[in-house]
Amino acid sequence: MLRIPTKMVGIQQPIPEQPQRGTAMALRLGDDAPNFTAETTEGTIDFYDWKGDSWAVLFSHPKDFTPVCTTELGYLASIKPEFDKRNVKIIGLSVDELGNHTAWADDIRETQGTAPNYPIIADSDRTVSDLYDMIHPNANDTLTVRSVFVIGPDNKVKLTLTYPASTGRNFDELLRVIDSLQLTAGYKVATPVNWKDGEDVIIVPALSDEEAKEAFPGGWETKKPYLRVTAQPNR
Ligand code: BEZ
Repeated sequence: MLRIPTKMVGIQQPIPEQPQRGTAMALRLGDDAPNFTAETTEGTIDFYDWKGDSWAVLFSHPKDFTPVCTTELGYLASIKPEFDKRNVKIIGLSVDELGNHTAWADDIRETQGTAPNYPIIADSDRTVSDLYDMIHPNANDTLTVRSVFVIGPDNKVKLTLTYPASTGRNFDELLRVIDSLQLTAGYKVATPVNWKDGEDVIIVPALSDEEAKEAFPGGWETKKPYLRVTAQPNR
């Protein structure tokens, strides 16, 4: 319970605590991605039902009818088949009203060649933004930053990214990371610097050479005992 200092009011009076915006605990890797129900450009969505056992990318942008967001949303629509191929669903969010999202889609098509072909959440009451800590008050206390959450089939957070409003994201990099996340979820490997799908990978240090012989019958190159390089196993 907060108390107003006696000096200010003459007598101490309890006042009810107000819920604080922007004080949500940041989501960390491995945390459960919170479920929610939200109004979107493709109807009302229960996030877990919509996602099913696919992977998902949930991303926020600061505002409709702004230049960087316009380029981001159009480009993402143009490479959606790449996300489909990887069994990844895409869903966007900003704190704008549904009507704005819909009207803006025409501008995105006109200027970028592709209109959004994925749902965009109209989070004007900030329910989802607060759940996912997408409003960073020291950057902007009303708009969402450029957050990205990659969520696995188990509904756990696998990747988080946060960019400021002034910097558009690189969605090709997001695909590269998803390739690594999906590969390393299924094999005892890690991916080296600037790795791209199809390139050699690293055997995780936790695997002994004995265990590695079984897992990687094609062998590997030992550059250091802790740095064993092998061909990408799912190729
Ligand atoms: C943009 O998307 O262009 C943008 C949005 C909010 C602040 C600055 C830029």
